[in-house]
Amino acid sequence: MRFLLLSVATLLLVVEGSTADRILSRRTKRELASPLHVGGIRDPFGSYCQRRGGCCPGRDDMCTVPYLDTICYCDLFCNRTVSDCCPDFWGHCLGVQPPFIGTCERNGNRFFSGQTYKENCNLCTCGTTGRWECEQNACLMDSDMIHAVNRGNYGWKAANYSQLYGMTLEEGIRFRLGTQRPSRTIMNMNEIQMNMDPQSDRLPLYFNSAEKWPGKIHEPLDQGNCAASWAFSTAAVASDRISIQSMGHMTPQLSPQNLISCDTRNQGGCAGGRIDGAWWYLRRRGVVTEECYPYQPPQQTPADVGRCMMQSRSVGRGKRQATQHCPNTHNYHNDIYQSTPPYRLSTNEKEIMKEIMDNGPVQAIMEVHEDFFVYKSGIYKHSDVSFTKPTQYRKHGTHSVRIIGWGEERNYDGTLKKYWIAANSWGKNWGENGYFRIARGDNECEIETFVVGVWGRITMEDMHKHHHHHRRRHI
Ligand SMILES: *[C@@H]1O[C@H](CO)[C@@H](O)[C@H](O)[C@H]1NC(C)=O
Ligand SMILES: *[C@@H]1O[C@H](CO)[C@@H](O)[C@H](O)[C@H]1NC(C)=O
Repeated sequence: MRFLLLSVATLLLVVEGSTADRILSRRTKRELASPLHVGGIRDPFGSYCQRRGGCCPGRDDMCTVPYLDTICYCDLFCNRTVSDCCPDFWGHCLGVQPPFIGTCERNGNRFFSGQTYKENCNLCTCGTTGRWECEQNACLMDSDMIHAVNRGNYGWKAANYSQLYGMTLEEGIRFRLGTQRPSRTIMNMNEIQMNMDPQSDRLPLYFNSAEKWPGKIHEPLDQGNCAASWAFSTAAVASDRISIQSMGHMTPQLSPQNLISCDTRNQGGCAGGRIDGAWWYLRRRGVVTEECYPYQPPQQTPADVGRCMMQSRSVGRGKRQATQHCPNTHNYHNDIYQSTPPYRLSTNEKEIMKEIMDNGPVQAIMEVHEDFFVYKSGIYKHSDVSFTKPTQYRKHGTHSVRIIGWGEERNYDGTLKKYWIAANSWGKNWGENGYFRIARGDNECEIETFVVGVWGRITMEDMHKHHHHHRRRHI
């Protein structure tokens, strides 16, 4: 209905004037960036609402008047958010004095008290004394930090990511990570015993799962502003392991959304969760593929997770089968993939390496610090660039990632720098095509503290039937 009204109004506006397109595109973004609050009121006098012939009660996005090169509003809603009211709104519509006392300047424009603009992650408000008063949050994309990293000799480089720009550090920690530290019982889980023979178990200097198992290692996904690395890292490791173990008969990219929406027992969805809970679900219930159950990043409040859209039933020997179509219109096959119980590896670097080389990528928990968000390339080590800053600039949270390999580099001074190659879940535009390298052997950011491997649950039958996927019709 609203849309219809908008279309009709657009037509009228097109007839009326050439600025219609601009006005419409601005109106839909009204609350995000009012042109007035960006440009400032440059003409505080004159008749606008008066010329329009009146004011509108409540919210009415049509209740506008052209104002300089933009529009201003004469509805009561304009007085409720960041002000985008016409200059004569207060006098003409409310019969009160305009709340302007001081004026502030920015880029040659005048702003009145109460008007705002956003500087990175901080809102600045023109105060009554004519000074800008800005919030003092630590920003996720802090230019001082980026420059300090790039000037220093840290072995890695930093970048400003537009998709993270404007967020506070606290929001980054709250929305971009999302793995709870495993409970003490889980942390005390026995590590598997690996008897490594120094002779026969010679490990190469460089190893990358994507090269040993081409086509079976899945690209990093993007969790967006959803704190569900617990689901992303688990789905990613299980996807790779099933592909490797089935020797490419099946190469499913398992659906993080299936876990986020359906594995809800003691799990927080986009507000964080536990990897042991995710593995439990993969073992007992199983999940479908990403094509079947696509990811839907939360638009506004990250808390909203969506109803579970997959149901399954047991078909014996612990195996399950979906009883519902995929929640999308293209109807991809709804086969369910399961895993065996995960096993914990020792914190010994060599044993982790051997496991990756023999069986494929592993899952690891790590502590993400403020400087990790700006990582662009190189071998990451938590830097000291924020050590002298107030505590609000130094924050960390728990995350989980997928380690796919390792390598080493020699510094110009001859020292050796060993690293892990790991996949993050912040999209392919972050880091080294979605991957990062991090120092190996020193438990950097606790990445060697809790490392997990798993087997897919694959039968002989799976090895045959999945050959013919494209020809089968699926329930
Ligand atoms: C609208 O503006 C008037 C005048 O400045 C102010 O007193 C009033 O509190 C504002 N109303 C709202 C809902 O913000
Ligand atoms: C970072 O990127 C944003 C937008 O993507 C830009 O507005 C800002 O000026 C950039 N900051 C630095 C320090 O380059």
